[in-house]
Amino acid sequence: MSTQYTAVIWNREKKRYDRYLAGLIGLFLLAFCGLTLALQPEITAETLIIRATGTTALLLLHLTLMIGPLCRIDPAFLPLLYNRRHLGVTTFFFGLIHGVFNLIQFHSLGNVNPLVSLFTANVHYGSLSNFPFQVLGFGALVILFLMAATSHDFWLKNLGPKAWKTLHMFVYLAYGLLVMHVLLGVAQAEHSPVAIGFLGMGVVTVISLHLAAAFFGQRGQFTAAAGEDFVEVCGLADIEDKRAKVCLIGKENIAIFKYDGKLAAVSNICKHQHGPLGEGKIVDGCITCPWHGYQYLPENGCSPPPFTEKVSTYELKLVGDRIFVNPRPHPEGTRVEPVEIPRKHE
Ligand code: HEM
Ligand code: FES
Repeated sequence: MSTQYTAVIWNREKKRYDRYLAGLIGLFLLAFCGLTLALQPEITAETLIIRATGTTALLLLHLTLMIGPLCRIDPAFLPLLYNRRHLGVTTFFFGLIHGVFNLIQFHSLGNVNPLVSLFTANVHYGSLSNFPFQVLGFGALVILFLMAATSHDFWLKNLGPKAWKTLHMFVYLAYGLLVMHVLLGVAQAEHSPVAIGFLGMGVVTVISLHLAAAFFGQRGQFTAAAGEDFVEVCGLADIEDKRAKVCLIGKENIAIFKYDGKLAAVSNICKHQHGPLGEGKIVDGCITCPWHGYQYLPENGCSPPPFTEKVSTYELKLVGDRIFVNPRPHPEGTRVEPVEIPRKHE
């Protein structure tokens, strides 16, 4: 949580995650190359590398895009999210190898600069069936590069979470470009329709998971009654100890935590990468973001020293066992006395 560049700390979890990732990629590459060689023994090493690396990159991109919605649907997937950036950077590296091999294979033998040749060798930009699909792959690679290059927290701090998040939302543009790159490329190369079938399954899975996650996210929506400051949100029994209930009231996304016989409400949006604080839990007295572990004190929304992040806080009241929240936010870091839960309700 500092603005200075600090090297990535490879803790035990990260190392284990990376070992699993490397193992799974290795297994996939073995299976892909084995199957391709069995079906097309005449294939050249360059073409095999191009196909294997492009397919690995696209598969990794699908996994990267599926982790976010999976975590919204079931918190059991949260450990995957903790290291999602590693998956994104690995996707870029495989895409890069694929792109560079293609540039060498298809664009480096003439007297034109390979990058110029990429854009000018095929100029059927107005035709769908002959569209220069490689240009789409290049566009996606540029986006993946920008994302991989700014994936470190140093850039998150310097660009600010909003700009950083906006930049990283371009992953969906990259995905769209790649779907078209592969669809048009495979169609033009007259590959087997199996590749299109797998791509179709991938696209349907990614879209369905995002729709399902959006549906789950709608569940905590409330509206303030005219003239009322407080909105009834839930009962005490609806919140597990050291956990939160998330509610959306107008534009306010609020997490109400129950801990140590008290209730406190803060913004649901983490200052790091806008992770959902209300899906985290109280650890050592602090609200702990489920994405990368940033912490905030429930009573004032401040990160414990030496950290300086702050989120908004909200007033609560308890009537019987019903919890009410005032959706007007206090400025970030403002102390709001937590509501004590009477013993008979604990
Ligand atoms: C400079 C950038 C790129 C260029 C010039 C390029 C070029 C190509 C070419 C020529 C093919 C057809 C290869 C064949 O004969 O099978 C292809 C296929 C493919 N590309 Fe790219 N590509 C680029 C970037 C990317 C990126 C970034 C990804 C994924 C992240 C990607 C994923 C794929 C996939 C999955 C295929 C289908 C593989 C197959 O044919 O079985 N490409 N690309
Ligand atoms: S989003 Fe990274 S710690 Fe909250």
